[in-house]
This record gives sequence, structure tokens and C-alpha cells, in this order.
Amino acid sequence: MKTNLCHVLGIEHPIIAAPMGPDMTGPELVAAVSNAGGLGILQAQFCTPPVFRQEIRRVRALTARPFGVNLLLHFPVADQVAICLEERVPVLSLFWGDPTPYVGRAHAAGVKVFHQVGSVADARRAAAAGVDVIIAQGVEAGGHVAGEVSTLALVPRVVDAVAGRPVVAAGGIADARGVVAVLALGAQAAMLGTRFLASAESRAHPHYKQRLLEADEGGTVRTILFGHGWPNAPHRTLRTAFVEHWLGREARGQESRPDEPAVGQTVIGGRAMPVLRFMGFPPNGEASGDIDAMDLLAGQGVGLVREIKPAGQIVHELVEEARRIIAQRLLGLVQPA
Ligand SMILES: Cc1cc2nc3c(=O)[nH]c(=O)nc-3n(C[C@H](O)[C@H](O)[C@H](O)COP(=O)(O)O)c2cc1C
Repeated sequence: MKTNLCHVLGIEHPIIAAPMGPDMTGPELVAAVSNAGGLGILQAQFCTPPVFRQEIRRVRALTARPFGVNLLLHFPVADQVAICLEERVPVLSLFWGDPTPYVGRAHAAGVKVFHQVGSVADARRAAAAGVDVIIAQGVEAGGHVAGEVSTLALVPRVVDAVAGRPVVAAGGIADARGVVAVLALGAQAAMLGTRFLASAESRAHPHYKQRLLEADEGGTVRTILFGHGWPNAPHRTLRTAFVEHWLGREARGQESRPDEPAVGQTVIGGRAMPVLRFMGFPPNGEASGDIDAMDLLAGQGVGLVREIKPAGQIVHELVEEARRIIAQRLLGLVQPA
């Protein structure tokens, strides 16, 4: 099941594991997905630059296959961009900002650029900036959500708007039915976040993974509540008792008060840090304290996630099941009886 984009990227299957920060998608998850023939994308932006470089090298030690490195452009990225280009990462994946300043330099270093958008207007801007691949993110998505349109409505519009440029679909895809659906919409790959968050290799805290297994499609909300350090940025998170308590008072979460009480602590890239209330830090395995008061980011596809599995197995099952759906169910619809 290879699309043109698979040939361009040198991957076997049109399956991409979304980058999930600050510390959910480390080298183990990235390599597991790439080794299974998909594309894993690292998020290690909140590590110090030397640790960020080590994390990239660790991915390379674990896989010889293509992979990506993600940067959120809301935060300073100059050092990280320089490292990505020095390390000649195969793919630089960008989100939340203007990719224009980075495209020429990336191409000069032989690095392909992905940019994630949530609207047709932003897709057009990304295409004009010269990015190689546009990721159309529907409002169902977990994590920070760029737009307000569903994946089903957005993807074909973006495909038409950026004619010829490869489009990847993200948001609400959590099983093979979703993968086949977005290929039918014209996407050349599916990018799944929440499904891979509930994988063995994801760095999500075990209690967070358990919460994912328990939640259904109504169990998330798009809010700006966890705005400490990144205010007024909509994100989709689980509707925990903490979130329910504060909904309607989201303005409080935008204040970024330095004296905000800590709900726990964690370690990211070797650095211990408090998790202050309303910080958008989903709990990693090192987190302790009141995990349910942290930002348990997840998409509406969470209702389809019922088991923690190795990431490579998730890729293989998605591909096998997608093949079966296409070959048996869909082909049967157009073949004479
Ligand atoms: C826990 C979590 C953290 C995320 N962090 C990032 C990030 O750091 N950078 C980024 O580009 N996208 C991030 N995203 C969004 C993903 O790129 C993607 O759009 C989303 O996961 C797709 O929707 P799905 O979760 O329904 O599969 C995150 C998503 C989740 C669930």
C-alpha cells in the first residue's frame, strides 16, 4: 500500500506517527514506527540543545530508516533548526507559525519540510512558502488544534487548494477505517497521534495511558485552559474532573502566574521541573503528583483506542486491515456480482 509520498520519503507505508510534545514521542517510539515501515517524528524541543542533538542521534542509532523531527514555531527554535540541519534529519516537521524562514535553508541541507495547518488559507500560505508536505489537521485532533474544521471536510479542500503538493491527514484517525477514509479523501498518508500515545513505547505516564483506554469519543474538549506559558492556543484534552471544574473560567489559565501552585513535578531531557497548574505539559513517565490535574491531551479518536500495543504492531495492523478493507469491502462494491 504505497502512495507517491511513500516513494518520495522512502517509507513502506502511508502511516505517520504524530510528534507529541513536550516528551511523549522519544527515540524509542520514533524508531519503532520507522522500523515498521511508517514515519516516526521526534518531539524533543524542550530539551537543552545538546540533549536535543543526542535524542536525534539516538533515533539514528535505533533505526536506519527515514524519520522526522518536530518543532513548534511558537517557541524559539533557532538552535534546534541549526542542529536539525547539521544532523541532516530526513524531515523537519513544523507547526504553529510561519514556515517561510526555514524552507530554503532546509532544502539547501537536503531536508524535507512538513507543515501542519488547520485551514485552507494556511495550507495555501504553506504551499506558497514551498513546504514539501502539508498536513491538514482536523478539529478532532488531540494536542494543539490549529483550526475549527473536521478532517472529513478539511482534507479534500486542502488537497484541491494546493493542487499537486502531497497532503497528509491528521485528526481523529485511530484505526484502519480512518486510514482508508483519508486516502479516499486524497491524502497521501495518515498521521495518528492519540493512537500512538497509547503504545508501549510512548513516554506517556501509565495513568494517562489508562485514562486514554477508558475515554470515549465524547470524553475530550477543545479548550484554551492549559495556557500557562502558551496562552490562547486551543488544544484538545481529556475532560477530567479538573478540566470540568475549570471550564468556563479558562481566562484564569492564560495568566501564566509564576506563583501558580504546582500540581506535580517531572523530568524532561534530564531536567527536573515543577508542573504548575494550567501548564500544557502532558505527564510523561517521570511525572509525579496529581496526574489528573495535568493536561491529558487526546483527540476524539480516543474512543477507538482500547489497548496499549507496541508501536510497530500498530503500524502493521493498520496496514493489514486497511488492505483488507480496500481489497474486500471496497473492491466488492464496484465488481460485478
Ligand atoms: C499529546 C499530544 C501532544 C502533541 N504535541 C504536538 C507537538 O508537540 N507538535 C506538533 O506538531 N503536534 C503535536 N500534537 C498534534 C499532532 O501533531 C496531531 O495533529 C494530532 O495528534 C492528530 O490527531 P489525533 O491525536 O486525533 O491522531 C500533539 C498531539 C497530542 C495528542
